[in-house]
Amino acid sequence: MTPPNGFVIAVDGPAASGKGTLATRLGALYGLPVLDTGLLYRAVGVGLERAGGDLDDAGQAEAVARALRPEDLDDPAFRTRGAGEAASRVAVHGPVRAALLALQRGFAAQPAGAVLDGRDMGTVICPAAPAKLYVTASPEVRAERRWKQLQAQGEAVAYEDVLADIRRRDARDAGRDAAPMKPAEDAVLLDTSEMTIEQATDAARRIVEAARARWENSRPG
Ligand code: C5P
Repeated sequence: MTPPNGFVIAVDGPAASGKGTLATRLGALYGLPVLDTGLLYRAVGVGLERAGGDLDDAGQAEAVARALRPEDLDDPAFRTRGAGEAASRVAVHGPVRAALLALQRGFAAQPAGAVLDGRDMGTVICPAAPAKLYVTASPEVRAERRWKQLQAQGEAVAYEDVLADIRRRDARDAGRDAAPMKPAEDAVLLDTSEMTIEQATDAARRIVEAARARWENSRPG
């Protein structure tokens, strides 16, 4: 595949690994637009539930995905615990993923480049991205982060239940046939378990700086 013209940063990793925060910070640092692709799957899951549909029905989920517009993504309901679960259930369907492909590739093809975060940015959506990070943290650390976030949003839930959600979601996302969650072969792994957000940002910036230097050297002219 031809490498993208702009500088594309692909950030993948499991739920609550910190990839979203890092993607936002990298976008600000490099002046690049950022797409949280989890929101697309959340919008499809929530949209289908609102329509009274069945999350396990690939055809119904695909129809919602095909009708999705980028301006539909700004809904606080997509940030809830239930939305994450619904997203991961519709994300197993190949036709749903296919329906969301063009929107994500289009975003990545912006002239200056882009930052995209998700599960299959480095493997499927932008395999030629010059910078690829795979952000992880232990399930316990991720559950604690997600639990605090939900508390702050006013969603009362037990830590153990959040941990169980995270483990179930990891297993479903990594175990599915369609674009399973996994690091691209050329992704740099970043384990943020023992890091503050500032330390993780520094580490991510160093990884991306190295990738950017290689990318600049490899460009014609
Ligand atoms: O990243 P976030 O937790 O918002 O993603 C919600 C769910 O959407 C994930 O658990 C995963 O099943 C799905 N997803 C995906 N591919 C992406 C982004 C999210 O399958 N690129």
